[in-house]
Amino acid sequence: METTNARPDLATIRSHFPALTQSTLFLENAGGSQVPAVVADAMHTYMRETYVQLDAPYALSQRSTQVVEGAHDDTKVLMNAGAVGEVVLGHSSSWLFRMLADCYAEAIQEGDEIVVAESGHEANVGPWLRLERYGAKIRWWRVDPATGESTLDALRDVMSERTKIVAFPHVSNLLGAIVDIEAVTQVAHAVGAKVVVDGVAFAPHRAIDVEAWGVDWYGYSAYKVYGPHVGALFGRHEAFAELEGPNHFFVAKDAVPYKFELGGVAHEGAAGILALRSYLQFLAGRDEYDRRTVTEAFDVMAAYEQPLQERLVGYANAHPRLRMIGPDHATLDRVATVSFVHESKSSESISLAANAEDIGIRFGHMYAHRLCTAVGLDPADGVVRVSCVHYNTPEEVDRLLDVLDPVL
Ligand SMILES: Cc1ncc(COP(=O)(O)O)c(C=O)c1O
Repeated sequence: METTNARPDLATIRSHFPALTQSTLFLENAGGSQVPAVVADAMHTYMRETYVQLDAPYALSQRSTQVVEGAHDDTKVLMNAGAVGEVVLGHSSSWLFRMLADCYAEAIQEGDEIVVAESGHEANVGPWLRLERYGAKIRWWRVDPATGESTLDALRDVMSERTKIVAFPHVSNLLGAIVDIEAVTQVAHAVGAKVVVDGVAFAPHRAIDVEAWGVDWYGYSAYKVYGPHVGALFGRHEAFAELEGPNHFFVAKDAVPYKFELGGVAHEGAAGILALRSYLQFLAGRDEYDRRTVTEAFDVMAAYEQPLQERLVGYANAHPRLRMIGPDHATLDRVATVSFVHESKSSESISLAANAEDIGIRFGHMYAHRLCTAVGLDPADGVVRVSCVHYNTPEEVDRLLDVLDPVL
């Protein structure tokens, strides 16, 4: 990771986010991040000035077409997708993974196997389980109940010549550990299977690089990456070619991404996505919007997150009554999402104590229901999760810990 002296200071970074001037502490960023003013303003302006349908010959319609196309192009840069595939935009990641699985329902054969990670958010689990009714066989990539870890050996044990899909999270939204995506992809590709990666919990923290990783499908949620409530799904050209998208019969099969965007995309969301480039340019200190800008912007984010992660992990590790759910080290192979449980107090009571002090953290299974069960927790109470991104400050983490310490 490049750490540069020229990186913008935290106060300037925070000044881009209007919401951060409020007294509330935003430490529930894995649920959704705040947006820079440029993003909110662009959506507002778009709705006031350019809110017309696409693809008509008049000037305003041409402008909205450019905004929606531009949002796709910018997302391709963000994911490094341009040379290898296309990006579909949609309502949410859950919506996009379900749409994808529904497309595969028509493509799979009786007895094809689908490997599903037990560590996954339900968005990339449930849609694949549904394929059982179309003849697919589900094989579980189980977690180690003691650590929550999903090992490559456990994956290899459930792979076979019949495996068609391996669906897994790049980062579990509870555990915070970054999975070795290239290694998993190689295991899948060795038997000709495709990977469907849930990148939602990774994308706010590090630069996505679908080309380098060689993945087939990769989804994330723009509303957790400082943008609007939109989901994005990358697919390789070859992967799209095997499927028929859900859009209307007169939309050509190879009209990708549109064939996979039934009903189109939220135009004002596209305006927000397009505006995010200027925030990334600011972080990177560059005028261009290109891959270098994306990677340098995320390097800045990772550098600011690291001390937050260290504080949280350090505290949870040192506390005799806490069990961390997820890796107990604070290094660059995990993100600043930290989950723990207390030996006797409910996650609910701990979380509510912080909420009462206007600190936004959360308890529960966070839709990683099966993971909670696998590591021996009651999903209803789940974990206490604290999730930071680059705009959080060490002082905010300290304030949280000051509030939690007497409770814990
Ligand atoms: C890891 C992970 N995957 C998927 C999702 C679902 O994303 P969306 O709300 O865009 O459907 C979430 C949302 O919290 C998540 O954390």
